[in-house]
Amino acid sequence: MTVQKTALAGAILSALVATPLVAQTEIKIGYALAPDSHYGVAAERWQEVVEERTDGRFTFRHFPSSGLGGEREVIEGVQLGTVEATIVSSGTLANFVAETGVFDIPFLFRDLGHARRVLDGPIGQDILEMFDAEGLVALAWGEQGFRHITNNRNQIGNPGDISGMRLRTMENPIHLTAFQTLGAAPTPMAWPEVIGALQQGTIDGQENPLSVIVSASLNDVQQYLTISGHVYSPAMLLVSPMVWEGMSEEDQQIFREAAAEAVVAMRGFVDNVEESGLETLRERGMDVAELSAEDRAAFQEALAPAYEEYYTTYDRDLIDAIIATE
Ligand code: PAF
Repeated sequence: MTVQKTALAGAILSALVATPLVAQTEIKIGYALAPDSHYGVAAERWQEVVEERTDGRFTFRHFPSSGLGGEREVIEGVQLGTVEATIVSSGTLANFVAETGVFDIPFLFRDLGHARRVLDGPIGQDILEMFDAEGLVALAWGEQGFRHITNNRNQIGNPGDISGMRLRTMENPIHLTAFQTLGAAPTPMAWPEVIGALQQGTIDGQENPLSVIVSASLNDVQQYLTISGHVYSPAMLLVSPMVWEGMSEEDQQIFREAAAEAVVAMRGFVDNVEESGLETLRERGMDVAELSAEDRAAFQEALAPAYEEYYTTYDRDLIDAIIATE
């Protein structure tokens, strides 16, 4: 009996020595889309790199598909520390740091490369730093692609075609001004309500990049897709200061590097879906049309009064510097 007890105590002791107790911090990460979306892929990569390089001291728990609520609520949770991390669109970011709204100006970026260079360069990085003062740690810019319009009313070729259209926009003042100026009837709405509103017909359409249209299967509830590319849609990787301030500098660096790798994965996903998305959506039965350069110019012309408003909100030099970025 005594021999058995001694053996048991010895076994427990060697198990404890072999597996020292390591404090683990759980990172609850919330995002609006499915695990197989660009957000899911980025969150997965963020997790892999952090877990591997911190030897499991941090673990991730995913809340995809708006599992923690709309993007505004999740960002507020990150501020409060009830959510440790998120990947969000620029939808509500201008309500936290007004300067982010400059990237939401329609037809500002020429292509994905232009947008990525601005966001990864001093202009984008300066804006990331502004989030510190709002109780948010903004680690990197990600992206969704260029936004396009889907609806159930008619195909779109010129600004007149969206006249009176009940179009869901993000809760984003820049987008709202644009669609009001174009004569649509924009309805700002949090993403979790959108599919239901489209199904019930309380709105005619919405606008989002191919990454979202494909991964959220908007073809199930929308007939027409117009490749309008009217605005670039950035995303952001945010961490709560509550968890950030408790980390060593080394771990903060690992989180930064992992976020950069997550962005590579997200942009890779977007590149792929920009290539294949149109065909996928045609195959799924959508009526797809693309605005020509002249059509896009007509939209830009119709937006002239909105641009006047943007120039009073944002520094003209900043807008010019963005446009001039090679
Ligand atoms: O349209 C939006 O609100 C956003 O693009 C979405 C789909 C939530 C992804 O961030």
